[in-house]
Amino acid sequence: MATPFKLLCFLFALTSSTSLLPSSCAQTCSGYTFSDNKVFSSCTDLPHLGASLYYDRDASANTVSVAFKAPQTSTGWVAWGLNPNATKMVGSQAIVAFLHSNGSMMAYPTQLDSYAPSMAPAALSFPVNDVSAEYVNKEMIIFATLGLVGGGTKFNQVWQEGSTVLNDVPKAHSTRGDNIKSLGTIDFQ
Ligand SMILES: *[C@@H]1O[C@H](CO)[C@@H](O)[C@H](O)[C@H]1NC(C)=O
Ligand SMILES: *[C@@H]1O[C@H](CO)[C@@H](O)[C@H](O)[C@H]1NC(C)=O
Repeated sequence: MATPFKLLCFLFALTSSTSLLPSSCAQTCSGYTFSDNKVFSSCTDLPHLGASLYYDRDASANTVSVAFKAPQTSTGWVAWGLNPNATKMVGSQAIVAFLHSNGSMMAYPTQLDSYAPSMAPAALSFPVNDVSAEYVNKEMIIFATLGLVGGGTKFNQVWQEGSTVLNDVPKAHSTRGDNIKSLGTIDFQ
């Protein structure tokens, strides 16, 4: 079945010159098919770490369902979050995922409250529900539904990956290259 993106891009291509194609039609994120027929109305290829973010805002409920996807080995971790107050890691309200030593993908919310956060599960500054994760084709995927407190749709976002999980605790990521560039803004509009 065609995803809504593909259908929209196809209709644009039929009716417009290609120069009018929405830039999202050039994105590679839109070609991805999630398990369980999960479908998101929007996606963006994030500029670092090969990651992408899929989202679907429910304006009446003031929530957004997201999927964050990034390449990873089975022994690493990935994380994505929003920083309500700053464009940096510290203060970010994140969700982390990794393969637990018992063989299950684990995902939970965690507060990045310093440059050496505990990575322990914690409540975030906004509601988070339906948190889960999958490991598919060497990519880790985090799913969650966030409550958009305050009614805004534009947020600072951060995303990250690290190679090591020790005793089921994600360890520090690299502080070079892409790993220190992986932040920006997202508008769930
Ligand atoms: C963001 O700033 C507000 C206002 O200063 C504060 O109440 C809130 O706790 C801060 N949020 C986080 C996640 O630090
Ligand atoms: C693995 O451990 C996590 C965290 O304790 C737990 O939530 C999950 O159910 C466990 N999975 C299995 C297959 O035991």
